[in-house]
Amino acid sequence: MDKPSANIKHEIGKLVKDLNYHCYRYYVLDAPEISDAEYDKQYRRLKELEEKYNYVLPDSPTQRVGAPALDRFEKVKHTEPMLSLDNAFSHEEVREFDERVKKLLKSDQDVDYTVEPKYDGLAMELTYKNGILFKASTRGDGYEGEDVTVNIKTIKAVPLKIEAGDIPEEIDIRGEVYMDIREFEALNMEREKAGEPVFANPRNAAAGSIRQLDSSITAGRKLHLACYGIGAAKGIAFKSQWEFITWLRNARFPVPAIIKLVKGIDKAIDVIKEIEEKRNGFPFEADGAVIKVNDFELQKALGVKTREPRWATAYKFPAHRGITKIRNIIASVGRTGTITPVASLETVRIGGVNVSNSTLHNWDEIERKDIRVGDTVVVERAGDVIPHVVEVIKDKRTGTEKHFSPPEKCPVCGSAVERDEGGVAYRCIGLNCAAQVQQRIGHYVSRAAMDIEGLGEKNVELLYSKGLIRHFVDIYRLKKEDLLKLPRFAEKSAQNLIDAIEKSKHTTLARFLYSLGIIHVGEYAAKLLARNFPDLDGLYNITPERIMEIKQMGEKTADSISLFFNDEENLRTLEVLKSFGVKITNPDFKKPEEKLPLEGLTFVITGTLPKARNEVEELIERMGGHASGSVSKSTSYLVLGEGPGSKLKKAQSLGVKIISYEELAEMLGGKN
Ligand code: IVH
Repeated sequence: MDKPSANIKHEIGKLVKDLNYHCYRYYVLDAPEISDAEYDKQYRRLKELEEKYNYVLPDSPTQRVGAPALDRFEKVKHTEPMLSLDNAFSHEEVREFDERVKKLLKSDQDVDYTVEPKYDGLAMELTYKNGILFKASTRGDGYEGEDVTVNIKTIKAVPLKIEAGDIPEEIDIRGEVYMDIREFEALNMEREKAGEPVFANPRNAAAGSIRQLDSSITAGRKLHLACYGIGAAKGIAFKSQWEFITWLRNARFPVPAIIKLVKGIDKAIDVIKEIEEKRNGFPFEADGAVIKVNDFELQKALGVKTREPRWATAYKFPAHRGITKIRNIIASVGRTGTITPVASLETVRIGGVNVSNSTLHNWDEIERKDIRVGDTVVVERAGDVIPHVVEVIKDKRTGTEKHFSPPEKCPVCGSAVERDEGGVAYRCIGLNCAAQVQQRIGHYVSRAAMDIEGLGEKNVELLYSKGLIRHFVDIYRLKKEDLLKLPRFAEKSAQNLIDAIEKSKHTTLARFLYSLGIIHVGEYAAKLLARNFPDLDGLYNITPERIMEIKQMGEKTADSISLFFNDEENLRTLEVLKSFGVKITNPDFKKPEEKLPLEGLTFVITGTLPKARNEVEELIERMGGHASGSVSKSTSYLVLGEGPGSKLKKAQSLGVKIISYEELAEMLGGKN
């Protein structure tokens, strides 16, 4: 390998710098200065030199792709917790937020606010050390997320290096990763063609793209970033959100499409209105506007309530609505045989998304809303949910609309249909109903279950129709030769599927239990079982009583689980799965229930404590307690500081327990 001369190093350095600048012009400013061809030429030259001299700078654009696939995501603790936002559903509630802010600040002056769109994506934290992107992590539970650095690097708008302005020793920058609506639709179209399940909304598509162990898949998805927040920082300090945003802009970070600094809530509401008016023209999905107190000192004084800052709120836009016609109503058979009516609609664009189906939930709903085939209806799409019919526009009826009655026979297998106790749900009783079997298989392979990639709905349908799988056990009997005979499979895709099946055999008890599709056992109940039973065998022939010993487990669920594990046929199936090499570990066993030390307790503070009051209150709330400003009968403890006020007397008269700061610290488990 040739050693790079000073000249070569210089050329590489310049290429990296220039390419990064052009990347910024193209992806952040949307104002390129050079042609794609010129960019590609410089990129190729850089790649050639890097390979020849084995000299790669950490911020080289070639480092955006090409990381080897991971086995799993490492966990990352956030230095400062990533909070969520309180919501306001009307301008009135936005005003109430402003009132609260002023009251807490004991001021009647107009407050400076920043206002920007609320992006419907995935929150992310980017850590830069000495200007270089060091780590990117998902929000996770707010305290701990997953390391998705290699995936985030594939997003071209993410700076690999901070190039301009003050470069801090360390800084955590927060923002939202999202997918544009058009990209989302194009991706779904592609997936549909490939027989893979489609994403329900752009947010899921973005999340699914980030949670890829193979970053080359992420690289193929066109993701964007909008930065709007700061976490921990060393070697730099900002006075306000606006100052921080200005720094971000200067340092070439993408910031929200609209962001304004205004004085007073009236002007803030004007910006909200402006964002709402422009909302349909945004290339991305915005589900609201975020209002933040601009001044960081004031933010600190306002503090945090449980997991939401008191200095910000999200105004949520009303759901998108559209008007269209019901072309047909289809009875769709689910995994457990439940038959759900689904309206097939004349395609309509609602809030930037094409809608052609809408759930009607059940026959009760059809009757209640008097929905008929041919009706003109109002359809609503609220951010993440599947669109639903709000109402029928009865004035538009022509008399040709048709009633739709519940099916007397299963539309798929022709078996009898049974009515549920409540009379709302209809169920196909056919044990071998093709729809049920395919849905069960689909559930077994789904991401939260056994996670077998490449076995989407279309492929399950195909394998089923060819008689290759009649039960999920048959997945393990599939051979590459069988797949190669099918129209949808070529050498590579067949091998990929076989590999994915093999890989999925190592699973956890929680996932496995969920995969089985036991009635009433969703992800949560499966996890509860895994926490309480060391292994699968421990559940064989279990009684409902034993399951009911688990606190959160309901009777219906317990009965259903017991029934499943007392069925000889089911137990045989489990043994067959094991014999095919399914290996189950149980990392969830005996994980302590997440109970916070101060749950159910109310604290009031009086006098001066060794720590700022709002910080102590924050800590109390974080530990599950409630911090209140006034003493009442429901106060559990009064925390006594130096120079107490009238609260002490009141507490004494009510017989409220009085404790010192040290005692509180002890209750917090030493976390003071
Ligand atoms: S600020 C403490 N600004 O909304 C403030 N969040 O509901 C935390 N989000 O987890 C976030 N756009 O994922 C902020 N302009 C914006 C946002 C935004 C979208 C998301 C973010 C957060 C969630 C809270």
